[in-house]
Amino acid sequence: MTPTAAKRPLQLNDLGQLRHFLSIDGLSRELLTEILDTADSFLEVGARAVKKVPLLRGKTVCNVFFENSTRTRTTFELAAQRLSADVITLNVSTSSTSKGETLLDTLRNLEAMAADMFVVRHGDSGAAHFIAEHVCPNVAIINGGDGRHAHPTQGMLDMLTIRRHKGGFENLSVAIVGDILHSRVARSNMLALKTLGCPDIRVIAPKTLLPVGIEQYGVSVYTDLAEGLKDVDVIIMLRLQTERMHGGLLPSAGEFYRTYGLTTQRLALAKPDALVMHPGPINRGVEIESAVADGPQSVILNQVTYGIAIRMAVLSMAMSGQAAQRQLNQNNQEQR
Ligand code: NCD
Repeated sequence: MTPTAAKRPLQLNDLGQLRHFLSIDGLSRELLTEILDTADSFLEVGARAVKKVPLLRGKTVCNVFFENSTRTRTTFELAAQRLSADVITLNVSTSSTSKGETLLDTLRNLEAMAADMFVVRHGDSGAAHFIAEHVCPNVAIINGGDGRHAHPTQGMLDMLTIRRHKGGFENLSVAIVGDILHSRVARSNMLALKTLGCPDIRVIAPKTLLPVGIEQYGVSVYTDLAEGLKDVDVIIMLRLQTERMHGGLLPSAGEFYRTYGLTTQRLALAKPDALVMHPGPINRGVEIESAVADGPQSVILNQVTYGIAIRMAVLSMAMSGQAAQRQLNQNNQEQR
């Protein structure tokens, strides 16, 4: 039975294909695996002399970033360009905007330019959902990070990194360390790891940087770094999101490093072949020692490369999901 528009999950079309990419929440293992497999096939494009495929030729992808970004913005641009799309990027200053107004006004203006996809980063949790639901239901919306809520392409590029280096998720112990409270990356990673069948997901943080109800993600919670790192296969370090902190959640960055910083000595508590990951930007000497960030177990720069392939996969899948939905709507209309 085809789900009705009201019941259908917002990010899927009537055939269950991706049409927006807003969150990992509610996506099946099959769909996440399809994203990873598609990204794997795009990695080869990045290794070619001519790094282009014509999948999005004639389409316009518009990056609208209401929050700062280096990696996410540039890799979305590259991904869209490698798919042969026309790409425009807007850095919208948030300093003097009142919530909602600028978002809507800016997007309505962009809509009038007939863009086919928007990649949106916004400081408010739920912004990408809001746009997909109220502003552009027929234009693919890709979430490039919304507040503390979700950063699904980062989640998927982290999964691709783990799968390519560890072969799968079935027997893995993965630790996510640091500012879990403010991290959209942590949320997307916990959901993706769970959905892909990782049996041991650990979060390690001081109590003040753990969200209430974190256990609902099916993770084990540690406040002691040494205990939490024991024998893990993967360590995902997070930056302290000071821009989202209100009030004194931490004594100081130095104190945080002494208790939760990943040093060479502490890395030795994990499995000898444990991967060290970080979404960037890294803060050396705050959450991670330089020798670890640049060391042989670090795959931090591989994550950036894989990010292009994941973003190519998501852009192309959402574009064909939208096209399939348009076709379905047209067929339905003709039958009436
Ligand atoms: C992350 C983000 O913006 O959420 N960075 C990223 O996208 N590469 C993490 C962070 O800013 O710390």
